[in-house]
Amino acid sequence: MCGIVGYVGRQQALEVVVGGLRRLEYRGYDSAGVAVIADGTLSVRKKAGKLVNLQTLLGEDPLPGSTTGIGHTRWATHGGPTDSNAHPHVSEDGSIAVIHNGIIENFAELRQELTAAGVQLSSETDTEVVAHLLARELPAADHDLTGAMLSVCSGLEGAFTLVAIDARHPDVVVAARRNSPLVVGIGDGENFVASDVAAFVDYTRQALELGQDQVVTITATSVSVVNFDGTPALVTPFEVDWDASAAEKGGFDLFMLKEIAEQPRAVADSLRGRVDADNRIQLDEMHLSEQDLRSIGKVVVVACGTAFHAGMVAKYAIEHWTRIPVEVELASEFRYRDPIVGADCLVIAISQSGETMDTLMALRYAAAQGARTLAICNTVGSTIPRESDAVLYTYAGPEIAVASTKAFLTQIIASYLVGLYLAQVRGQMTAPEIHAVMDDLNDMPHAVDLALDTVDGVRAIARQFADATSVLFIGRHVGFPVALEGALKLKELAYMHAEGFAAGELKHGPIALIEEGVPVVVVVPSPRNRAVLHDKIISAIQEVRARGAVILAIAEEGDDKITSFADHVIRVPIVPALMQPLVSTVPLQVFACEMATAKGHDVDQPRNLAKSVTVE
Ligand code: F6R
Repeated sequence: MCGIVGYVGRQQALEVVVGGLRRLEYRGYDSAGVAVIADGTLSVRKKAGKLVNLQTLLGEDPLPGSTTGIGHTRWATHGGPTDSNAHPHVSEDGSIAVIHNGIIENFAELRQELTAAGVQLSSETDTEVVAHLLARELPAADHDLTGAMLSVCSGLEGAFTLVAIDARHPDVVVAARRNSPLVVGIGDGENFVASDVAAFVDYTRQALELGQDQVVTITATSVSVVNFDGTPALVTPFEVDWDASAAEKGGFDLFMLKEIAEQPRAVADSLRGRVDADNRIQLDEMHLSEQDLRSIGKVVVVACGTAFHAGMVAKYAIEHWTRIPVEVELASEFRYRDPIVGADCLVIAISQSGETMDTLMALRYAAAQGARTLAICNTVGSTIPRESDAVLYTYAGPEIAVASTKAFLTQIIASYLVGLYLAQVRGQMTAPEIHAVMDDLNDMPHAVDLALDTVDGVRAIARQFADATSVLFIGRHVGFPVALEGALKLKELAYMHAEGFAAGELKHGPIALIEEGVPVVVVVPSPRNRAVLHDKIISAIQEVRARGAVILAIAEEGDDKITSFADHVIRVPIVPALMQPLVSTVPLQVFACEMATAKGHDVDQPRNLAKSVTVE
């Protein structure tokens, strides 16, 4: 949450910083602000609302040219989304500007201390204290901004990325990191700091991963990193494996539509190179020994939101293939319920961003209990994979729309690969059996492509439902998490009541929600390999239809039986049962996107949300 960018180099800083904020706006859009240093003077512009409001302000009240600047796009935590709470925050003498992502937990004490010392605070944020504390620490640090940052950080509690500039040191940007994302971009005669590589990928693909509790100081030609205790830090360089065009809309009206359309490619990329010449699954990034994997007695998946739904799908496959019990836990609940985890557990943290605080905290808890940890993640260099024993990257490419789409499909793919790998290592499946599933998986990019043919049909149906006040989603087996995912997408984009249920649960309560005209979206199991479930879902349809529900069935090609039970049928390709989520989710994504569009909502940036949830 919150996007931050800092630049020092040879170009107009404002241009680079505002361009970076545009790329980071998915991280929060309650307000935006920038600060630059020109002729020894710090100048700030900030505005509540989306970046466009700041851009208008910059047009009306331009900033001077400068080669050093910082910028921030906010997801509000402390203090409402107002102009005065927007970042950057500035020291009383107007020389230091600070931007921040995270929460400074002891800010109330720090505020009190500053107020008692006569400092006038001008916002309700936790961030502002840092600007005043830096100003206070600078003299003791010989006016070295890095030194002042180190000493301020030693007194802060909570999670933070901070970036600061000082008018007296116009060529330096200093940033600090604890439990909140920060990457460094290494350019030619210019350097960058940002929450995410997307902010600088236009200029460079060379980047550095920072560790926790580190401070980085950049000038146009140098980057130096120290730990909070002042000792030199080890940093890992990496190359960003996608280019700037991947973070553009590429001819689509919405990032979400583009990302939905990219799913065949994302699935294919996430499967690439996973089988060796002997037809055995190889997971290069998976640095857990076969011995470790053989000793596992339980798998626990921790994740949030859409990633949690991917974990729910994975449970069906991993248990089926490995016979290892799999628990799927909401990361935010995990460590608060005294879970049973120990050395015989493999804890899999699924996270697109790799920065979700709830998931990170669950992972740390599991590691502290002695569990082996594995991250399934889409963001190289992010905290969750860095802190895991092993990682399996998904290759979805950057996901800019706040609602997750291609990440979900690739998370399922990656979890399936883990399941098959476990089955291989433990001898639970034979080589031909694994090979057969890999063949099925390798058919999926094409199947997902065919599922995209549903787009126009789904959009037309969604328009008909646009005035509904509530939509229910039901499914069985792996169709159940798909139903949950369909409902989540609709809630977050169309701001309407939507709920997903296991179809068998309807009669245990939720059926009371059905009244004349309520749309029920049914993820229909295959009549071929899940005949019993197919019959049972038809019974569920009958029950809700008898009470006035309007049925939209997502059913496979050739499932003729369903036709007479549904008001609308969307056809997805025939795939094996465990692969069905990869195709049946696609129309549900389009459905939510179109409902939101019909209601005039901002699909890519839904209200109250941000993409990377870096607070607990
Ligand atoms: C919903 C959505 C969220 C995320 C959740 C976890 O469309 O995007 O529910 O799935 O916040 O995020 P990551 O995967 O980054 O940990």
